[in-house]
This record gives sequence, C-alpha cells and structure tokens, in this order.
Amino acid sequence: MPKHEGVSLSVIKRLPRYYRFLGDLLSRDVTRISSRELASLMQLTASQIRQDLNCFGGFGQQGYGYNVAALHKEIGNIMGLNKHTPMVLIGAGNLGRTIARHMDFESSGFKLVGIFDDSPRVIGQKVSSLTVQDMAGLEAFCKEQSPRAAILCIPKEVAFETAQRLMKLGVNCFWNFSHYDLSLDFEGAVVENVHLGDSLMTLCYQINAAYPEDE
Ligand code: NAI
Repeated sequence: MPKHEGVSLSVIKRLPRYYRFLGDLLSRDVTRISSRELASLMQLTASQIRQDLNCFGGFGQQGYGYNVAALHKEIGNIMGLNKHTPMVLIGAGNLGRTIARHMDFESSGFKLVGIFDDSPRVIGQKVSSLTVQDMAGLEAFCKEQSPRAAILCIPKEVAFETAQRLMKLGVNCFWNFSHYDLSLDFEGAVVENVHLGDSLMTLCYQINAAYPEDE
C-alpha cells in the first residue's frame, strides 16, 4: 500500500515549499519557529500549516512550535529525498541539456544515471558528467542499471511510444516536459507533467487582472 495514502495532491505539492523555507531558516541558524511565524513567512495561515503537517502525524509541540532542523529532515524523509532514485534523461536537446547541467538531482531525491537521444548530432557528446548514449542501447542499459524514473525532453509526437518502451523496461515514473499528457495513458505510472508555459500564462492572467487598463 502506498505510504501516506489519502493525502491530497495539493498538500503534497506544498511539501517542497515547506522544505525550501525550512532549509533557508536552517541556513540562517534559526532553530525553532511557531506555526504563526512560519505561516507569515510563507503567506499561509497557521491552521493551514498545522492541517498539512497533521496529514503526516504533526510535528509541532504546544507552546514550543517546530524544531526547524527536525521538521526539515522529516519533510525530506516524507518526500524520500534521501533515496536517490536512479533516473534517465531522454532527449538531449536544448531543454534536456539545460536540465542535466543545472538541476541538483541529488538534493531532490534522484541520481541521473544516463542520457539518451536518437540523433547522431548529439550522441557521444558530453553533458554534465555523462555521455549522451544512443537510444538503441536503452534496453541493455536499463537491464544493467534498473532506473526507475525518466525525464522526457522529447517532442510530443514521440512521447507516448517512448514512455511505452520505458514502461516495458520497468521505468514507470516520468518527469514529463513533452507537451503530451502521459498521465491519461498509463495506469500505475507516476507522472509529473511540467509545462513552463502554464506558469507563464498564470503570470499573464495575474498581470491582466492587476492592470486591466493595459493594452
Ligand atoms: P530540441 O529539438 O532541442 O531537443 C529535442 C531532442 O529530442 C533532440 O535532441 C532530438 O534528437 C531528441 N529526440 C527526438 N525524438 C527522439 C526519440 N524518439 N528518442 C530520443 N530522442 C529523441 O527541443 P527542446 O527545446 O529541447 O524541447 C524538447 C521538448 O520539450 C519539445 O517537445 C518542447 O516542445 C518541449 N518543451 C517543454 C517545455 C515545458 O515547459 N514543458 C519547455 C520547453 C520545451
């Protein structure tokens, strides 16, 4: 049975933000914080924070608040950040290379173990500390390294067939940048679709709402 079953996705999506704020407090040597102070820092309500953390057992003490280091560690454990799940990147184009070079995989719970592409233009190139491999070698690689997750930075036209191929190799968790909604296709797959454009359009909406008079 999955751990923390029944916890809503909106609570889960707030965990990285708690982790980031607590990490920031730690780096400033703050050792304890009340739910009210944390709430004001994060622009949430104290009751929202208590409700969120109660989903995982609650970690505060009446009259003391939260121990920052303990809560940071506990939230990291809840997210499984110490596991370093092996992950492959498919598609070493502009986006894939940027992600491989700039993401801190290890502190986000992953280890990037392989990068694959099907174009001779990029196969053999060094990206970060890895060499881009030919997709033809994907099966042998997965057999040997057993990655569990894949980052998809490939065109949407090939996302479905690539995900299907990966699923057959035991890779059923996807950080999906291709503009294709994988979660609709594969039962049992764990999918996080990322659309930077959605975030930009949300900003656009907010600007539009704040300055309706702008042309
Ligand atoms: P790109 O054209 O620079 O890179 C795509 C790479 O995928 C190429 O190296 C190509 O050889 C490779 N590829 C194509 N078919 C493949 C296959 N079947 N197997 C393995 N590799 C394959 O494009 P870019 O800019 O890196 O973008 C990649 C994808 O991500 C595009 O579909 C783009 O629309 C999307 N994108 C998504 C964003 C998001 O926020 N979700 C943001 C920016 C781009």
